[in-house]
Amino acid sequence: MGGKSRKKLWSGRFTEETNRLVEVFTASLPFDMRLYGHDIEGSIAHCRMLQRQGIIPPADAASIVDALTEIRSEIASGAFRFLQSDEDIHMAIERGLIDRIGPVGGKVHTGRSRNDQVSLDMRLYLRDEIGGILQLVAGLQKTLVDLAKKEIDTIMPGYTHMQKAQPVLLSHYLLAFREMLQRDAARLAECLERVNVMPLGSAALAGTSLPLDRKYTARQLGFQAISANSMDAVSDRDFVAEFIFDAGLLMMHLSRFCEDLIIWSSGEFGFVEISDAYTTGSSIMPQKKNPDVAELIRGKTGRVYGNLVRILTVLKGLPMTYNRDLQEDKEPLFDTADTVKTSLMVLTGMAGNLTFNRQRMLEEAAKGFSTATDVAEYLVTRGVPFREAHGIVGRLVAHCISSGKDLAEISLRELRKFYTGFDEGIYAVIPVKKAVNARNTAGGTAKKEVLKQIREAEGQAKGKRSKAKGQE
Ligand code: ARG
Repeated sequence: MGGKSRKKLWSGRFTEETNRLVEVFTASLPFDMRLYGHDIEGSIAHCRMLQRQGIIPPADAASIVDALTEIRSEIASGAFRFLQSDEDIHMAIERGLIDRIGPVGGKVHTGRSRNDQVSLDMRLYLRDEIGGILQLVAGLQKTLVDLAKKEIDTIMPGYTHMQKAQPVLLSHYLLAFREMLQRDAARLAECLERVNVMPLGSAALAGTSLPLDRKYTARQLGFQAISANSMDAVSDRDFVAEFIFDAGLLMMHLSRFCEDLIIWSSGEFGFVEISDAYTTGSSIMPQKKNPDVAELIRGKTGRVYGNLVRILTVLKGLPMTYNRDLQEDKEPLFDTADTVKTSLMVLTGMAGNLTFNRQRMLEEAAKGFSTATDVAEYLVTRGVPFREAHGIVGRLVAHCISSGKDLAEISLRELRKFYTGFDEGIYAVIPVKKAVNARNTAGGTAKKEVLKQIREAEGQAKGKRSKAKGQE
């Protein structure tokens, strides 16, 4: 940024210059600079509307649009000179415009305030970001489904309370995360509808006396609706808070997946190997291979939660309508979008390069009497009330523990000491594979059900892709 300071565009009523520290303190340019493309896109649409309504002459509109287009490429290439006194991206561009074409450049701000302008920019920006995030979510979902297909016969121990519970298919586990992401995508798509509302024409807070055609501006910018109340429009940042909440939930899902990968890649578990490309070493311990990427995704989740608290706190005490506090909406929003995008990208890469230790997972799945429920359910099929069956098998497990045996190692004669009605059929329900495939309720872990989930997931993804194509 250039060190020079110049008279502010709004300095008409001021006799003194802005204090230097205040200039730095109030500036948002260092972080809202990234809105330049959206700011210019909005200004061009606004300018074309002003011309169409006969508010500014065609020649003026044409030179404004040309100059804005040039400024856009100069900012993109780094050639544009920002000034210390520019305050924010909106003022920097308008100042650059006036520098370039003279006072006519000042016509761009006709019937507009920075209050509706900044809301427009944020909405345009977020619309693009949500679109990008939705694509990344779909990419991670695809990776999970591909993995689920590859691991369709891999059996792992399922846990509750971090204690072995029942054997499940690894595919079933992976598809659980696909399901979470499906809800995340639905939430973001709904948020997008509320983002996709055009605020321009609200001006400072009350609208304008000039005959704007707001719907034309909206059409040009691809908005589905225009805001209904100008006071609401300039003070509303619900869409920012809503997006950050949705992103927070999405990050929480990624974080939980990462947490499992961290535990599973430990020597104690040994369920999975994260590829070298997605791990790091230790500066002192030569033998180490650490799951830092997964840990950072888990850590960055906290950052997004922090951003949610930031924006909610900024908003909670604001009197109507626009207040400068609202400038504090940008950093949490940008940081959230950046964090979610990089986390999704890196996790997709990491997930696609995992190597599961199928043998080890299977061995562990069979331990810990993980099919005890199957024995109880077998007794239920013999007419034993479930609560009694639970008690019988509980005592049987206690016996196994004290005698150091597995369920399958207990003879029928011994079994009958616990319940006289045991028969040979019991040995068929104990193996883990049997136990998995027996759980064939809709949404259960039986291979048949999991294959159905895979088909549905692929169908939904295909539907989404063709819908997206239709919108292009
Ligand atoms: N930089 C400001 C923001 O981000 C733009 C709006 C300033 N409006 C004002 N009336 N001071 O919110």
